[in-house]
Parts: sequence; structure tokens; C-alpha cells
Amino acid sequence: MRQLLVTSALPYANGHIHIGHLVEYLQTDIWVRFQKMVGNRAIYICADDTHGTAITIRAQAEGRTEEQIIADMSAAHQADFGAFGIEFDHYGSTNSEENLAKCVEIWAALRREDMVEEREIDQLYDTEKHVFLADRFVRGTCPKCQSVDQPGDNCGNCGATYSPNDLINPVSTLSGTTPEIRKAVHLFVQIEKLHAFLDEWTQSGTLPSESANYLKNFFLNEPLRDWDISRPGPYFGFQIPDSPGNFWYVWFDAPIGYIGTTQQWCDANGEKIEDWWKSDQTEVHHFIGKDIQYFHTLFWPAMLKTAGFSLPKQVHIHGFLTVDGEKMSKSRGTFIRASKYLEHLNPEYLRYYYATKLSSRVEDIDLNFEEFVAKVNSDLVGKVINLASRTAKFVQDKGLSKEYPDDGGLFETFSSKGADIAAAYEKGDYGKAMRMIVELADLANPYVESNAPWELRKDESKAQELQDVCTVALNLFRTLVIYLAPVLPGLATKTGELLGEEITSWDQATQPLTGRSIARFQHMMQRVDPRRIEAMVEESKEEAASEIAESPKQDWADSGDALAETPIGDEITIEDFLKPDLRVARIIAANEVPEARKLIQLTLSLGGDETRNVFAGIKSAYEPEELIGRLVVMVANLAPRKMKFGVSEGMIIASGPGGKDIFLLSPDEGAVPGQRVG
Ligand code: MSP
Ligand code: ZN
Repeated sequence: MRQLLVTSALPYANGHIHIGHLVEYLQTDIWVRFQKMVGNRAIYICADDTHGTAITIRAQAEGRTEEQIIADMSAAHQADFGAFGIEFDHYGSTNSEENLAKCVEIWAALRREDMVEEREIDQLYDTEKHVFLADRFVRGTCPKCQSVDQPGDNCGNCGATYSPNDLINPVSTLSGTTPEIRKAVHLFVQIEKLHAFLDEWTQSGTLPSESANYLKNFFLNEPLRDWDISRPGPYFGFQIPDSPGNFWYVWFDAPIGYIGTTQQWCDANGEKIEDWWKSDQTEVHHFIGKDIQYFHTLFWPAMLKTAGFSLPKQVHIHGFLTVDGEKMSKSRGTFIRASKYLEHLNPEYLRYYYATKLSSRVEDIDLNFEEFVAKVNSDLVGKVINLASRTAKFVQDKGLSKEYPDDGGLFETFSSKGADIAAAYEKGDYGKAMRMIVELADLANPYVESNAPWELRKDESKAQELQDVCTVALNLFRTLVIYLAPVLPGLATKTGELLGEEITSWDQATQPLTGRSIARFQHMMQRVDPRRIEAMVEESKEEAASEIAESPKQDWADSGDALAETPIGDEITIEDFLKPDLRVARIIAANEVPEARKLIQLTLSLGGDETRNVFAGIKSAYEPEELIGRLVVMVANLAPRKMKFGVSEGMIIASGPGGKDIFLLSPDEGAVPGQRVG
């Protein structure tokens, strides 16, 4: 008997569970149920990942405390998981005493092994609120594409990633003021010191080969970068005991949550943590998505190794869910919450469908609704469930035959497949396991059809034959359900009730049931009604739209002053609008005009050799040097105007009341000088 500690990634407490997450939690749950069925001792550990800036932002937006948010979210997550039949042995929280204790222990080991270095870095500081600003608390203009009001870590428009220090015109979202750059001490873990170990460990068969190869080629080829593990307060998380005012970055205490949560389970069950995390007797298995593999394959093993905990025996890495070939999308209604799915569809459909799609490879999996309907309706209901629904009612009174009848070797074939199917589950090749099961069903159905119990029942003299045929069909059905039980626990329970013996172990597939009464047949599973899928997608779409309509307030609390001061002008026709010829232009030279207080002389390029000389009244807001190179929008067909200092051949477009508050308009990345605007 193996002893297994199995985890799924800890879902963030800042959002609800959706059908993308479920790929992972269902995959793990199936594996754990399978392990328990074959007689291994397995515990399934998970928790909410509660710390970090996102929670604080949500708390501020909702006017609640972080603790209130995480308590509600934990309840919601657990309700969703429970409804999908995902059965944890313990579900905890990273914001627990036990987790703090484990963080302290691992931190002490990192210090002891001299893995931690303090370094001063530049970080933005809010001078009004007197705090250093985490990336998410800064917004500003993207340094790459010039889109305004972008987050501090990456641009929502062009996708560029950068440090908040690189933002143009950064603004603190806490106070609305311009932060200044100050020195802050951060703590770094020098994982390069474990380079040789990580090289060996990642290549030792613990990871899917795709991931191992990727690490080898791109990460382990050069020195591993130090890992910035601290954040100055305020930060919702654990304060670092020997570095007051600094907190562990959420990705430090999150994986430690696997151990902290195991500790809680141990305390509740009279077990010792050493037996689960410091013993060769226990295999640790992590299930995660490909987006978080570096945390689990570089940082995490480095921490475990340093602190003397067991290393994962295997990290099972899955790809991402797409829906009908595309990323889940709120506007298309395919960003579907677990709770929304449950309003419309049976969770076992999704368990089965995902199982048919999963393999041990790191591949994205696609939820195709047509295929979903087909697989559930024709394979699961049509081929498997039907074996019972077409036969159980005929033996309601008499029960199963005393002796297992001659079935031409079918039962034998079914039970001999058990080992192959088990091997596929073990490897995570659920798709292959499901195919083998359906292939068996394809052998059972012709048996039922050719023996036609519905005909036999019309003839009193064939009563024994009828009982025998139904006994065979129900035993074949039961064997399939045993093989499906890790995927479809609800079906397994109902089947156990029907046949009077609970399905708990893989070995039950080796022995047919005979001579027993059976319970009243109850519907086991309905076919999918495609209209429910449509309704689910439609409602997801509507709810996403109303969320978007409701949410912006806190982030974009724009006052109405500007509009009130300058009301919208008289209506114009499209022809009026097309009169000014607006063009993208690049400022290729900018000079002061000594005689003029307000003007800067600009040379604008329209591409090629086309240039324009423009005097712009923007000196109170811009320095000439900062303008050179940037793109602006100009009115290119304005009649030239003779001024004291020369001829102005156009105008550039800006907004703002004047003085320091003049804001030039910038086209997004990709626009080229000379292009028409409009
Ligand atoms: N909190 C971190 C994990 C910390 S583990 C110490 C996190 N949380 S998450 O809520 O964003 O994601 C939880 C898991 O769900 C991750 O393994 C992630 O890969 C997986 N998935 C989230 N969205 C997914 C899809 N759309 N498709 C498949 N899996 C997805 O990451
Ligand atoms: Zn950008």
C-alpha cells in the first residue's frame, strides 16, 4: 500500500471558482478517488490562497475587511467544490496559525543556510499615505504604448510587463498623488545556490517531459535569478519576524499552505506531520496548471530542500481550458462560474467530459459543447446507463440469478481489462481509460440487443432466460460503473444502491454479483438538454455585462467637472467632422522659442520627407526634450498662420484647461506617422 499526499493548487480567494479551475480540481479528485479505490492510503489537501494585494484591492472596493472577504470566499469555494463531488480530506486557508508556523520554520532554514540576501531597490512611495506601493497600487501611462491609466505591473492595452518605476506619470491609487521613488529593502532568496540540485531534480522524472525540457533549455541554462520574496507593509500577509515592516510575498506562504493545511489535518486526525512531509514512506503529488509551474518546479523545491521537507514525487501539470476553441470570455458568455453551471447542468456530465479529454501531457483542453452533448448522451447515457435502464426493471421482483450464467466470456473480458484501465488512471491518461470503458460498453450492448429481454418477458416459459440475460447485463453494467467510479461517484452510489452492494474498491470488478434482490430502479442520469447549455451561456453573458456596468465606480471615480465647465457643443454632420484632416505625426525636433513664454517650436514628421513646422502653446506643461520621438495627433490641413517667429503649419491636439494641465493625445502602439485619424 502506498501512502500519498495529493494537492491541487490553492485557489485565490479573490475570485469565484469557474469551469477553468475545475479542470484541475476534478482531475485531482479523480486521481485521489482512484487511489483510494485501489487500496492506497491517500489524503487530498487544499486551501484558499488568501494573501496579497488583490485581496486588499477587493476589500477596499467593497468597503469590507480582508478577513470578511476571505471568509465568504472560502465558504463559496467549498460549496462549489462540494457540489461537484470534489472531496478534500481537508480544506484550509493560508491565513492560518499553522501556516504561519511553517513559514517561520522554513524561513529560519533559509536564513540558516545563508540563502537570503537583503538588497536595496527603488520602489514607489506614497508621500501622503506614507507607504511603499505594491505594483497593483500604482497606475500610470504605459512606457511602451503610451496608453494611460494602466496597472503598475503590466499594460492592459499592449500586454507589456514592466516595473511600476517605469510608468509615465505614475499615480498612487491609494491617494491619487504622484508617488516618488525611494529606496526600500527587499529580501531575496538566492536559488542559484541550489542550481545543481534543481537541475538534477527537475530532470529526474518528476515533471512531464515537456516541462522538464523547457526548464533545461530556458532556465537552467543560465544562473537562476534571485527571487524577491518580501514586500514592505502595508500588505495583507504575514510579517517577516526578523524584518519588521516587511511581509512575505504571497507566493512564499502560498505553497507552504500545503504543509500548513496538512498540519491542520494531522491535528484533527491524531497524525504526525513528519509522517507526511518528512518521510520516505509518503509520496507527495502536486496537481497544478502550466501557468504556475516555475513556482512549483524551481522556488518550491528549493524551499523544501533547504528546510528538509520531502520533495514532490511528481508534479502533474495540465494545460488551460478553452471553450469552443477560444479563451474563456466574459463577453461570449464562456467565462462560466461553477455555481452558474450547477444551476443548469448535472456536475457528473462535466466530470465525465473532462475525463474524456485529459491526458498526462501538458496540453490545453477544449470544451466543445456539441461534443459535450454527444459524449454524455451517446456514450455515457446511451451506452453505459442504458444497460441498466433496459434490464433492471425485468428483475425487480426476482433479483439476480443464483448462478452467474454463461455469457460467452464477456464478464471475463471485462474484469481482465481492469489492470489496463487502472494503469491509465495512474498515469493521468483518463481519456484513454474512458475510451477503454466505452469499448467494453460496445461489447455489452450487442449482447443485450441480441438477447432482447423485452421480447423474452412476453413469454412465461422464458423467465429463467430473462433473469439470466438481465443478470449478465447488470453485472457488465456494474463493472463499467466500478471503472467509472473515480469519475462518477454519484453514479457509483446509485448503482451500489440498486444492486445492494456499495462500490468502494477496484477489486469488486473481479467477482460478479448473483442471487440477490435488487432495489427499485430509479433514473440514474438524464440526457443533456442542449437548451440548458444555451441558457447557461446566455446568463453568463448577461451577468458579466452587468458586472462590468456596476464595477467601475471605485477605480474610475471621474468627477463631472470637466464636462460641466465645457458643455458639449452644437451637433455637427459627419461631413463637418471629416473637414479637419487629422494625422498621426512624430515630433522629431522641439525647441524653446526664447521670445514666447508659452510656445514650443515643433518639427512634426508625417513620414518620409514630409515635415511641418508647428508652434504649440504647451511650454507650461512640457519640456522640449521629453517631446522628442513621441507620436501625437495633428490637424494637417489647417491654413498656415504667420506668427511673429515664423509660419505655423498646423496644430497638435491636446486636452486640459491649460497651464500645467495640458495633455497631448497619443495614438496607441502600431500607429505610424502620416496615418489619417478619424
Ligand atoms: N493561488 C495560486 C496558486 C497557489 S498554489 C500554492 C493560483 N490560483 S488560481 O486560482 O489562479 O488558480 C488555481 C489553479 O487553477 C491553478 O493551477 C491554475 O492553473 C488553474 N486554472 C485557473 N484557470 C484555469 C483555466 N482556465 N484552465 C485550466 N486551469 C486553470 O494560481
Ligand atoms: Zn502598453
